[in-house]
Amino acid sequence: MRAAVLHAIDDKKLDIRDDVQTVGPDPGEVLIKLRAAGVCHSDLSARNGGLPQTMPTILGHEAAGEVLAVGDGVTNVAPGDHVIASWLPPCGTCPSCRRGQPHLCFTHVLTAYTKPRFLIGDTPAFGMAGCGAFAEQMVIPSDGAVKIAEDVPFEIAALIGCGVMTGVGSVINTAKVEPGATVAVIGCGGVGISVIQGARLSGAAVIVGVDTNETKHELALRFGATHAVHPDNLAELSGLLTAGEGFDYAFEVVGLPQTIRSAWGAARRGGLVVIVGAGRADHKVEFTPFELLFDGKNMASSLYGNADVRRDYHRLLALWRAGRLDLEGMITQRITLDDIEGALEALGQGEVIRQVISYE
Ligand code: APR
Ligand code: ZN
Ligand code: ZN
Repeated sequence: MRAAVLHAIDDKKLDIRDDVQTVGPDPGEVLIKLRAAGVCHSDLSARNGGLPQTMPTILGHEAAGEVLAVGDGVTNVAPGDHVIASWLPPCGTCPSCRRGQPHLCFTHVLTAYTKPRFLIGDTPAFGMAGCGAFAEQMVIPSDGAVKIAEDVPFEIAALIGCGVMTGVGSVINTAKVEPGATVAVIGCGGVGISVIQGARLSGAAVIVGVDTNETKHELALRFGATHAVHPDNLAELSGLLTAGEGFDYAFEVVGLPQTIRSAWGAARRGGLVVIVGAGRADHKVEFTPFELLFDGKNMASSLYGNADVRRDYHRLLALWRAGRLDLEGMITQRITLDDIEGALEALGQGEVIRQVISYE
């Protein structure tokens, strides 16, 4: 089958080839025929080494498709089922899962880095975060295959698989934003727009989209932001909107030291800074011990929107059906697998919300 292979970190081009095969499905795994895959910033971060991957790897982790075959012992899905693929599947039995924090489950993360589920010719290859959605088929743990209704368009389902779950989840699961709250969202890409939509449906009174790219401002407003600004003008706007106090919630949705500092600066005393962006392990952010105590601010990690995918994918689909989440509007380009290089390039320029690959 056809797949886009990354052979080494910082390879400028993905190698699109036709001699890739899937391995399995082994017991507990599911073979999926991809029908749609979104292009997320984490794919770019994986390509440039910002997010570690075992090489060679097939990128792509925001996807939906149809089950082709299941391995021994799989009971939650059957061939023909439509599914959203999770890149962070809950095993259901580890301490994190039992504690009710399935987004911290490590069981399948470890397998993703150690178990190749593709072959390129004779060479074993891995799937990004245990997926590998820039391919016509992929094998994932059955815990990561969540069955959905057949009337949901695959491209809508795909977006829920990463960006929308991450963004909306950070608002409704991690921050639990309440009606009337003031919210700043730093970074208005696919994930940031999802944070904005989550804040809107939670009843936030003030939602400020912050982005260095001015073309994102109009998009932020379209998806529910009440204001949109360049980071240089955030302090001034905050002065006007919050009487100089700062925001109740500041979401960091870029993954850089300077935007984490901006989020900290944007939150009010007693406010919550929510880390949504996936930053690098070799970057550093500085805080003084003084400010960590006396500013009275709190910081929360929101990994994958603190998702319980078995519950949350259906919640998000229900909100989409009710017209409270605009997912169609987030798809700014429809592309094919052959366009993937251009798509990653465009994402790096920050000119798009979501580009979605459709597979036959
Ligand atoms: N200040 C404000 N906005 C910025 C800055 C900055 N210093 N630098 C970049 N941005 C904006 C970009 O202009 C772009 O609109 O952040 C946005 C990032 O959007 P995308 O590239 O579409 O990324 P997205 O897919 O939304 O992911 C955002 O979440 O899941 C993580 O790995 C992902 O860390 C990434 C983040
Ligand atoms: Zn992603
Ligand atoms: Zn677990």
